[in-house]
Amino acid sequence: MEQLAQIVAEAPAQVAAVSSLAELDELEARLLGRRSVIAELQRGMGSLPPERRPEVGRALQEARAELQDLIARRRHQLEREAENLLLEEDRVDVTLDAFRLPGGGEHLIQQTIDEVCEIFIGLGYVVAAGPEAELGYYNFDALNTPPTHPSRLESDTLYLDWGDPADEVLLRTHTSPMQARFMEAHDPPVYVVVPGKVYRADTPDATHSPVFHQIEGLAVDSDITMSDLKGTLAHFAREFFGPRQRIRLLPHFFPFTEPSAEMHAACFHCEGTGAACRVCGGSGWIELMGCGMVDPNVFEAVGYDPGEVTGFAFGMGVERLAQVRHGLSPIRHVFENDIRVLRQFRGIA
Ligand code: DAH
Repeated sequence: MEQLAQIVAEAPAQVAAVSSLAELDELEARLLGRRSVIAELQRGMGSLPPERRPEVGRALQEARAELQDLIARRRHQLEREAENLLLEEDRVDVTLDAFRLPGGGEHLIQQTIDEVCEIFIGLGYVVAAGPEAELGYYNFDALNTPPTHPSRLESDTLYLDWGDPADEVLLRTHTSPMQARFMEAHDPPVYVVVPGKVYRADTPDATHSPVFHQIEGLAVDSDITMSDLKGTLAHFAREFFGPRQRIRLLPHFFPFTEPSAEMHAACFHCEGTGAACRVCGGSGWIELMGCGMVDPNVFEAVGYDPGEVTGFAFGMGVERLAQVRHGLSPIRHVFENDIRVLRQFRGIA
């Protein structure tokens, strides 16, 4: 009984002295575990005279209960301390500036391409893509462009392989080669638009860049006329620029269309009056694209019968469209990727 009293008397100080849950577990095993003094005393009960057993048994029970209670309270305390420590370490400092990921957005050129394609998809066209490294055959020959045409000179076109016209490889100078590639791979009717990059041996200035974007269009069917071309392009211009947009077609020459034209849109800035306008240069009109009725020679080159089908084609400059629509010049703004410029066109489409 003395031993027991001593254990109970010393326990509070021992329990208070542990500083972690692990230490407390150890202490608990020492005080109450199978090899503890109390457990030994309990095992020794059998050797006591029967009349003393109830008294000693009760004392053992009480001592055990008291120690258990002490330990449970200390455990609770230590758990709270551990939790508080965690909370303290985890605390969010709301005065810190948030870590912000800059939001991205589509580039003005891609937005313009998407918007133009959407308009033609609405008219039943499909969208196709072609190679930027192109054979001289598709870039020129299949498009009725003779070997002597000035645009085939090295001073105009960037060649990857130059010399023998039969297997020339070049960076395509327009998206028109996809006219021939698409017709070779598909039977008529054809309604397709082809956006993509094109390359020319140009020195960059306010209106030129050695790489820019075009969107080609081609419609081939059994009885397509010039009125269809005009109606389609007028519809496109009104969808893209607004319902009151006026257009005009001026005669022009392209080897792969006959007749050919340039399509002009009335200047959005001076509304066609031309009066000292810095956007259109005073003419009141802005050139947007080349177009025309597909030359029979092009149909023949791809195996179509010009007696059976007719068609129109057009090729527009994407940078030009974006510049005219937003009054954005010079052209380098589109390529320099100055975030202060690009940000102004985020999500406009
Ligand atoms: N490929 C011409 C160019 O880059 C533009 C063009 C003109 C495309 C007339 C056409 C067209 O499809 O019919 O200047």
